[in-house]
Amino acid sequence: MAENRPITVALLGAGTVGSSVASLLAENSEDFAQRIGAPVHLTGVAVRDAGRARPGLDPSLLTDDVLGLAASGADVVVEVMGGIEPARTAILAAMAAGSSVVTANKALLAEDGASLYRAAAEHGVDLYFEASVAGAIPLLRPLRESLAGDRVLSVMGIVNGTTNFMLTKMDEAGADYDDVFAEAEALGYLEADPTLDVGGHDAAAKAAILAELAFHTRVTIDDVHVEGITDVTAEDMRAARAMGFVIKLVAVAERVGEGIVVRVHPAMIPRDHPLASVRGAFNAVFVEAEAAGEMMFYGRGAGGNPTASAVLGDVVAAARNRRAGGLGPGESTYLNLPILDIGSAHTRYYVNLDVADRPGVLASIANAFAEHGVSIQVVRQDGHGAEAGLIVRTHRASDAALQATVQSLRELDTVKRVVGVMRVEGEAGD
Ligand code: NAP
Ligand code: HSE
Repeated sequence: MAENRPITVALLGAGTVGSSVASLLAENSEDFAQRIGAPVHLTGVAVRDAGRARPGLDPSLLTDDVLGLAASGADVVVEVMGGIEPARTAILAAMAAGSSVVTANKALLAEDGASLYRAAAEHGVDLYFEASVAGAIPLLRPLRESLAGDRVLSVMGIVNGTTNFMLTKMDEAGADYDDVFAEAEALGYLEADPTLDVGGHDAAAKAAILAELAFHTRVTIDDVHVEGITDVTAEDMRAARAMGFVIKLVAVAERVGEGIVVRVHPAMIPRDHPLASVRGAFNAVFVEAEAAGEMMFYGRGAGGNPTASAVLGDVVAAARNRRAGGLGPGESTYLNLPILDIGSAHTRYYVNLDVADRPGVLASIANAFAEHGVSIQVVRQDGHGAEAGLIVRTHRASDAALQATVQSLRELDTVKRVVGVMRVEGEAGD
């Protein structure tokens, strides 16, 4: 490439992330020119409504012709529109025109990342997507590149800022779910479809992306076991606190035998675990690798500027590759490990029961655990008579055995009600 030919960038989307990308590109243009070795030139910005004025954006750059701009042959096309279509068609058109692509689109990557990788390989261009998981936090590049010489054993993290904000409020202020949901809504944290956050689907998309990179195995959102936070109550929070735990929505991807399990669900975590201190809308991901041991990545998982930071890091990488005539890493799914059902995961459980207070109750309950080979770690009784409650924490067992145990407990006449059931993560040992 000629020494001073500008690197051209086409931007698809100018919302929360896209507008920050455009303004940081302009503000830091001198630095980008030095870091890349050539100036960066923004060639156009595609939006739905090109007639609406956008502060700080030259109106002559705006267009509603997404596919036209995508296929215009810019060096780098940045897709920050979100959603499946027209984002997928636009990315494929950009690659067919020889452009490298930077995207923050977790939904598309988790649904059909394979098509994007295939097109990138076919057309000899880059596909970067650091911003798609955990916003500003450099996490995917470490998994794709820095840990390429190691063997990842597990990835566990808090990858949805909105639900972490809600759970933090419930824990620290004793607030109810409905109140913290209203607060998150008022602060503009929730996705346009809030079930993506509170139902765990946003975290599941991120878990699929993380699992694919960590285990060199193709993983889509349909492979992820998902439970959201809608059933977490103030009572669960109080019980967790009383036991020295905090409740978090965790995304876990782990090796189990010859396969992997990928899951998203609320879990109790000991208060002294590093993930327990991740408060508010922050994200953190704990990675364990065979040689490197344990690592934690922490920072802002959302927001215009934090997410734009990750997008622009990818733009610089793709631009440098263009100038050097090389390519960044492509798809690495050579292991193709089987993806196992949640029943194969090994976890601990917390079970909260309303029980009859009479002789033999404890024995019948202990028997239900023993019947399924689940070993009890701690039992605590609260109250007596009509108010008798029992909290049981188990040792590690297969999730299938734990679920079967809970089913047996529901069928006992000594158990009046199963008040709460939750997985427990982050404790050392069995
Ligand atoms: P957003 O605020 O809703 O902005 C979307 C932008 O894309 C808008 O400018 C919109 O145009 C444009 N757009 C959407 N559909 C279009 C279409 N069919 N044709 C033309 N333009 C279209 O979204 P965002 O929050 O910036 O998120 C963008 C991407 O980043 C998503 O994939 C999201 O998952 C990801 N992400 C976001 C965050 C975050 O904190 N927001 C963090 C990490 C990753 P108009 O302006 O005319 O409506
Ligand atoms: N809804 C997402 C979150 C946005 O709360 O983390 C960032 O991906």
